[in-house]
Amino acid sequence: MCGIVGYVGSVRERSDAGDLDGEYCALDVVIEGLRRLEYRGYDSAGVAVVADGTVQSRKKAGKLANLIAELEEHPLPSTLTGIGHTRWATHGGPTDANAHPHLADEGRLAVIHNGIIENYAELKQELLAKGVKFASETDTEVAAALIGDLYRGAADGDITKAMQLAAQRLEGAFTLLAVHAEQPGVVVAARRNSPLVVGLGDGENFLGSDVSGFIDHTRRAVELGQDQIVTITPDSFAITDFYGRPAQGKEFEVSWDAASAEKGGFPSFMEKEIHDQPAAVHDTLLGRSDPRGRLILDELRIDPAELKQVNKIIVLACGTAAYAGMVAKYAIENWCRIPTEVELAHEFRYRDPIVDKNTLVVSISQSGETMDTLMAVRYAREQGAKTVSICNTNGSTIPRESDAVLYTHAGPEIAVASTKAFLAQITAAYLLGLYLAQLRGNIFSGQIKDVLADLNKIPEKIQTVLDTTGPLRELARSMKDEKSVLFLGRNVGYPVALEGALKLKEIAYLHAEGFAAGELKHGPIALIDAGQPVFVVVPSPRGRDSLHSKVVSNIQEVRARGARTLVIAEEGDEAVREYAEHVVYVPETPPLLMPLLTTVPLQIFAAELAAAKGFDVDQPRNLAKSVTVE
Ligand code: G6P
Repeated sequence: MCGIVGYVGSVRERSDAGDLDGEYCALDVVIEGLRRLEYRGYDSAGVAVVADGTVQSRKKAGKLANLIAELEEHPLPSTLTGIGHTRWATHGGPTDANAHPHLADEGRLAVIHNGIIENYAELKQELLAKGVKFASETDTEVAAALIGDLYRGAADGDITKAMQLAAQRLEGAFTLLAVHAEQPGVVVAARRNSPLVVGLGDGENFLGSDVSGFIDHTRRAVELGQDQIVTITPDSFAITDFYGRPAQGKEFEVSWDAASAEKGGFPSFMEKEIHDQPAAVHDTLLGRSDPRGRLILDELRIDPAELKQVNKIIVLACGTAAYAGMVAKYAIENWCRIPTEVELAHEFRYRDPIVDKNTLVVSISQSGETMDTLMAVRYAREQGAKTVSICNTNGSTIPRESDAVLYTHAGPEIAVASTKAFLAQITAAYLLGLYLAQLRGNIFSGQIKDVLADLNKIPEKIQTVLDTTGPLRELARSMKDEKSVLFLGRNVGYPVALEGALKLKEIAYLHAEGFAAGELKHGPIALIDAGQPVFVVVPSPRGRDSLHSKVVSNIQEVRARGARTLVIAEEGDEAVREYAEHVVYVPETPPLLMPLLTTVPLQIFAAELAAAKGFDVDQPRNLAKSVTVE
């Protein structure tokens, strides 16, 4: 996930002129836009402008401030055509060289990109054979080279045509923006499975990953459809499909103010991130299997022979990531038949654990900087274990110090309480489990293909859950004065119960506990008093070995003692209705994948209840997003 801005203007004098060099220019608009889009990624930033028959660019690793310092030291000319990018690295670490824009056609073409180009390796081979040289490790540079090659060839010097022809050949998800030295006053963009909005001004037009990229200048916007190309000039915008056939966008008026625009119109980053989850899961799956249903985890650079020797897996993490680890245990043991332990990283480190070269240590961390997790990974490596990191932050310390990494592609998570990173971590853990099973021949390839097909349906199902939260939100608001809420679950529903409780503690400062439902009778049931709210995560009634009836009995047990039972169940499960005061149904899905759906209502419940209490859900008291002390 990255932030993208494009601008073409014709007016030099404006009352809201920027302050970069006293004169209003493309660079001012682009930098302002990037500032608003920095929440989408901040590991490097770059800009390019078209000036006097050339393309000139500056780019810098690190936050936008580094780019601004670079521009002060090495200014760019005042012009009226420019593009800018703030990066969340996927291919290639966060370095100056990998930052966007990427240049092609001997420096005359600049390209920026958001997304992942799945067939970049194959295209790169083709371009290398034609003598093209590459300066970075990114998939974006391959797209730039392809557009450049087509511009000189089949597109005959027409940048829109070159973009159309390139888009036809690219696979994956992308928003691409390009400017060419020979075409001042033109920015062209392509969109597939990645966001892009056009902003309509008076004598000037804009492009942005979302409207916050240009909200300071106009509220008139056009949303592009899938697989569309748009060309903007100061006075026009033209949309086509990838084959040059005219197409339509959807014009709308932005109703948000500039401040809420960064949150996509949501009241908090947490709400926005909860709603980002279909994309987070989708992007984490993207490009990791072939059409035959075989996992391709190229980035997992551990010798397959060594992975075959693994006889024990230890998953290490803290907080929400540790609950993702618990889900991973169920999946890995089920598919791979390798004994898997999950341990809090800080506990593991200081108890002399048994680890050797046949142990695979899987760390899970959104930030990649959690000191407890880092120390545990270092210790495991010293003991000779192989280490894989599941991480959301490219280039961070834990993946750097691990033997291999499987990145989650959730995009930056700003709210302290983790939501989209959690679902992306679970998704990545499933991929790792399936990959190991494939490698070791534990399950038939047809079965892997089926699970992948089910995983690919998850984003749409999460969206269904998100679209039907009205009654749940009402329930949450009505419960703002509760003193305690309990959560029960079994099997993969158990970590979901723990995560539901953690969310409430973190942001609503409410006493909340999660229990394994079977454990209830061994103690926690003594807590149940008249009116005690209890959330129960109910497993699917379908399939062999279903625990459904056991959990329904647990609901009856707490209800008989006066509890208010709030149930999360699978669509069609009518059996729970008569024992529940409130039921949230989620779409049918295989039992092992259920956490990707059942977690979502619990996140929404916590966010809504905390907001009703008037708390800052993004920055709860006493907590930090990334805990870099032990
Ligand atoms: C902190 C945060 C939690 C997070 C945990 C692990 O405690 O407040 O939300 O789950 O760290 O963070 P990590 O970046 O390693 O996933």
